[in-house]
Amino acid sequence: MKTAIGQTNALYPSLTLLIGARVNGKPNFLTVAHAGVIDETHLMISLAATHHTTQGILEHREFSVNIPDSSLLEETDYCGIVSGKKTDKADLFTVEYGDLEYAPLIRECPVSMECRVTQTMEQGRYLIFIGEIRMTYADDGIRGGRTIDPERLRPILFAMSTRGYYGLAGRLGNAWDVGMNLPLREREASSHEGRSNLRSVF
Ligand SMILES: Cc1cc2nc3c(=O)[nH]c(=O)nc-3n(C[C@H](O)[C@H](O)[C@H](O)COP(=O)(O)O)c2cc1C
Repeated sequence: MKTAIGQTNALYPSLTLLIGARVNGKPNFLTVAHAGVIDETHLMISLAATHHTTQGILEHREFSVNIPDSSLLEETDYCGIVSGKKTDKADLFTVEYGDLEYAPLIRECPVSMECRVTQTMEQGRYLIFIGEIRMTYADDGIRGGRTIDPERLRPILFAMSTRGYYGLAGRLGNAWDVGMNLPLREREASSHEGRSNLRSVF
């Protein structure tokens, strides 16, 4: 039995990210847990309109998405507590740039993406930025070829309900594969020739 627990957004745990932008000529980073995948080359982030970082993204229409690992837990939390309006947060990290002039990257994060804003939407006091990923940089230690291994990445997950950070539990199974352990329903059975026929795209 389930109990109704009110109008609660239960889409957690979510990935904890450090978003970078240039604000008043200086790099600034904030912590974001409200972000999502759109497709293989687009993502979205939801930022309070009043945040310092938001001003930089509105001005330059570029931002970076840096994925911290668990070794950066304290720095990640700190960037979600203090504002660049009063405190320089960039000196916590080694800041570098790729192709985009206004998307500062954090060298200590094992993954960084440079994004250009394609659309901005308003939802209450938040601005939703949709970004086209222009380039992704991944540490050699967490990738095999162009593929990122989430277990080697050790991302930080966040849950609003407990105000807690979590680690990844490990691989449960293979996507587009374990479902095939169930008996196929009759109509589907005629359209599938087996596991090798399944495509790993949406
Ligand atoms: C775990 C965590 C997740 C957060 N997620 C978001 C978020 O998704 N969107 C947002 O606008 N603020 C979020 N915040 C709050 C901002 O990171 C915080 O207010 C920050 O100090 C703003 O920095 P800035 O003014 O330098 O841009 C989060 C904070 C924490 C600790």
